[in-house]
Amino acid sequence: MLTREKPRSEQTRPRFLNNPRKIKVLFGMFLLFFSVVAFCTIAYFNNLSVFLRTNYVRITKLYAVKKSKDRTSVSNLIQKNTTLPARQDDWSNVTKNIYVFSSFWDDRLKPLQRFVRIVAIGPREGLEGKDISCIAYNQNTSTSIILPTSFKIIEEHHGQSFSAMYFFCYWGSKRPPPLAVALRHIPTSLESAKLPVHNRNVSKVRVTKDNIAVCVRPFFGPFNNTLDLAQFVALYHTLGVSHFTFYDYRITNQVREFISSLQKEGFSIELLPWSLPNPVILNTWAYGQLASSQDCVYRHMFDYNYVALVDVDEFLFPRKNETLQEMIKSFPIEKWSSLEIRNSFFCKRNPEKTVSSNASIPLTSTRFIKREKKIWKPKIRSKIIVQPFKIITCGIHFVWEHFEAGNAIVVPPSVCLMHHYRDSMCSKDPQKIVVDNYALKFKDQLLKSKVIKIWKELFWQK
Ligand SMILES: *[C@@H]1O[C@H](CO)[C@@H](O)[C@H](O)[C@H]1NC(C)=O
Ligand SMILES: *[C@@H]1O[C@H](CO)[C@@H](O)[C@H](O)[C@H]1NC(C)=O
Ligand SMILES: *[C@@H]1O[C@H](CO)[C@@H](O)[C@H](O)[C@H]1NC(C)=O
Ligand SMILES: *[C@@H]1O[C@H](CO)[C@@H](O)[C@H](O)[C@H]1NC(C)=O
Ligand SMILES: *[C@@H]1O[C@H](CO)[C@@H](O)[C@H](O)[C@H]1NC(C)=O
Ligand SMILES: *[C@@H]1O[C@H](CO)[C@@H](O)[C@H](O)[C@H]1NC(C)=O
Ligand SMILES: *[C@@H]1O[C@H](CO)[C@@H](O)[C@H](O)[C@H]1NC(C)=O
Repeated sequence: MLTREKPRSEQTRPRFLNNPRKIKVLFGMFLLFFSVVAFCTIAYFNNLSVFLRTNYVRITKLYAVKKSKDRTSVSNLIQKNTTLPARQDDWSNVTKNIYVFSSFWDDRLKPLQRFVRIVAIGPREGLEGKDISCIAYNQNTSTSIILPTSFKIIEEHHGQSFSAMYFFCYWGSKRPPPLAVALRHIPTSLESAKLPVHNRNVSKVRVTKDNIAVCVRPFFGPFNNTLDLAQFVALYHTLGVSHFTFYDYRITNQVREFISSLQKEGFSIELLPWSLPNPVILNTWAYGQLASSQDCVYRHMFDYNYVALVDVDEFLFPRKNETLQEMIKSFPIEKWSSLEIRNSFFCKRNPEKTVSSNASIPLTSTRFIKREKKIWKPKIRSKIIVQPFKIITCGIHFVWEHFEAGNAIVVPPSVCLMHHYRDSMCSKDPQKIVVDNYALKFKDQLLKSKVIKIWKELFWQK
């Protein structure tokens, strides 16, 4: 039976626990209770590791495999021939409305807890008690195993009927990780696609020091602006980013061709499919952005030191340093797990003709240098740079859950400011507008960049 992880807020310590005597009594009772429960559960499940409680992932109840009458087989092992086809991550459904995208091995709490984390989207209500379980596959032994399974809704759902969520597939402490997992609806035996389990690649871990990946939420629209995309890649590349992850909900063929040309020229860009059906995607906040953010952070967890999560019209400009790396390192890395970069709106309705319109190519960042004076508060429209292995759950504007003792640092706008280029949302009051031409510092580098050269060859008619 599927069970829900307790949301973070329910895990906080009740106030009466501040009384030391009561703590002792409670602790005694808890020990007794725990021993009884532990005894029963060991006897029943033979799998203690799953019950070790931490703040990281707390499991309340488990899916219990029905007692088999056949005592000769291990109760939860099913013999089955499987060969695992190589599969690109993409959405696949297990019921009409539960969709899974990708899966990640997470043993950051080893040896206490090891599990596969599935990035999913499903209905916000009515999942509890559903007869859905993880099935783990291993090519070598051709067996599949039903695993204890629970789920957790990601809180930033804005009341939409669908929400990004995780499924957890708990795994014993000794076995090597499974190669693939799927969700199965037990009564019908219908299964999602087998998701290859992403694991750390030991030979690749931290090869490059201080490398940064940028994750962009699913393109929608349809998105057709190759020049905006060229500027995005060129500028972040100039600022020290070495990898880009995009999600293809609706982009035009022209944009797809452009990305493929950049890949051929050696740019490290991945474009992942985001083929959720409309009834789901339109009833999930921001086209499922919360799911793409989690996917991206876990995808890069062991290969990139830093991951920046931004939109295609948002640029993080370090103001005292040449690169994002230098800016990031001005905050001792052991002191934080996320940096919150504050938002400012640049007005695309207000070109500053005299200074900036001279560029041969009309790049947004060199054309629009008027912004609202107002710099938004942290957590409101801010964007984040994270150290991915210190993160559990990202939000859009801040981190919901840090791993262990992680914490957020708010970056002063004088050190790094986000330029957010928008058509609307700009004040008409001249008192509230300032000229900010910091981005012009990068104009020449941008215009000479390889990305813009490739763009010109493909799209610039002159
Ligand atoms: C399953 O595997 C066994 C042994 O590898 C083989 O004999 C059998 O034919 C396979 N069955 C199917 C349906 O592939
Ligand atoms: C996926 O959803 C469709 C309907 O949208 C349904 O017919 C199909 O059975 C589902 N697939 C699985 C594996 O449950
Ligand atoms: C799986 O089998 C392949 C060869 O069939 C072998 O090279 C590999 O080491 C095996 N992996 C595990 C985890 O047993
Ligand atoms: C691990 O990384 C190395 C170096 O980048 C690469 O050559 C290899 O194919 C990777 N292995 C897997 C299983 O991804
Ligand atoms: C993109 O699409 C919009 C609306 O369909 C259109 O007005 C615009 O000219 C297109 N832009 C490019 C670069 O193709
Ligand atoms: C980056 O800027 C900070 C000030 O925010 C400064 O202390 C540091 O020395 C700079 N780093 C480099 C490498 O320039
Ligand atoms: C504008 O461009 C021309 C030729 O490209 C150059 O000579 C001139 O200095 C530029 N003006 C400004 C203000 O950058």
